[in-house]
Amino acid sequence: MKVTVVGAGAVGASCAEYIAMKDFAAEVVLVDIKEGFAEGKAMDLMQTASLNGFDTKITGTTGDYSKTAGSKVAVITSGIPRKPGMTREELIGINAGIVKDVTANLVKHSPDVIIIVVSNPMDTMAYLVHKTSGLPKNQIIGMGGALDSARFKYRLAEALECPISDVDGMVIAAHSDTGMLPLMSKATRNGVPVTEFLNEEKQNYVAEETKVGGATLTKLLGTSAWYAPGAAVSVMVQAILCDHKKMIPCSLMLDGEYGQSDICLGVPAIIGANGVEKIVEISLTDAEKEKFATAAQAVREVNGDLKF
Ligand code: NAI
Repeated sequence: MKVTVVGAGAVGASCAEYIAMKDFAAEVVLVDIKEGFAEGKAMDLMQTASLNGFDTKITGTTGDYSKTAGSKVAVITSGIPRKPGMTREELIGINAGIVKDVTANLVKHSPDVIIIVVSNPMDTMAYLVHKTSGLPKNQIIGMGGALDSARFKYRLAEALECPISDVDGMVIAAHSDTGMLPLMSKATRNGVPVTEFLNEEKQNYVAEETKVGGATLTKLLGTSAWYAPGAAVSVMVQAILCDHKKMIPCSLMLDGEYGQSDICLGVPAIIGANGVEKIVEISLTDAEKEKFATAAQAVREVNGDLKF
């Protein structure tokens, strides 16, 4: 099956690389607006095929969307990333225009496509795709929770001084520095609640470091991260192409779930061949419910800046 990745920059190329390395897709088409850039990234990646042992064909195009026709999944990473000190929300002006335009081109050539939205501010960009694409809501998935949960597990393992594979945890709500909600009450180490090992101070440290995980990397790198975002996207694309029916927190259009409607927010969902197969409603503590509602309010305000 064919996968399109729009934006051959840091995150887009990383997505293509991880998808190819896992060898579950027949073809990855990279699209970029910069002349020759996607073609160059595709050629460079294809020259790793014999070294890394994959058969996925990677091609690139400068804006010729006819090459993306028949894609099962398309990933939108096109747009500008944040610089140190910027919030994701500050990117809306430029990125909304790009995401809207790219979505129209994708749907024109792949009317049944499942779109994974990565460009920031992601919850608002996913909402924009819902409002402009005409696609059913199970076919539009924002990527944030998969990455933020991976960052949560990294910080949990660090605090617990244990291997990452021993810990489990999930981040829901908004993909923003203030709106992320790491579910400490449900995080475990080998099945035992982490609250039994970490005192309140350490729990707060883990939660705060998770929430500013992207900003910490942006400060270190001078631009936003790409390895973990690319890996997170590849897990979502694989869940769809291989029909894994895997539970992954994603930014989805809510219709009463978690007390919210007409908004995209991070919630756990079963991801499989149909895209979003089911939104999973887990029980939240009163404090978590309040944080979820506050995050929703902030995302609604950003959504208010959109012009369709
Ligand atoms: P980048 O600048 O390395 O790459 C973006 C690419 O998009 C560039 O190559 C650019 O030429 C291309 N582009 C711009 N307009 C286009 C158009 N109309 N059509 C096709 N291509 C176009 O940026 P990077 O680091 O790859 O980040 C991409 C986006 O992903 C940013 O908005 C960033 O904030 C977001 N991001 C989201 C994450 C998430 O968890 N949802 C994680 C990391 C980044």
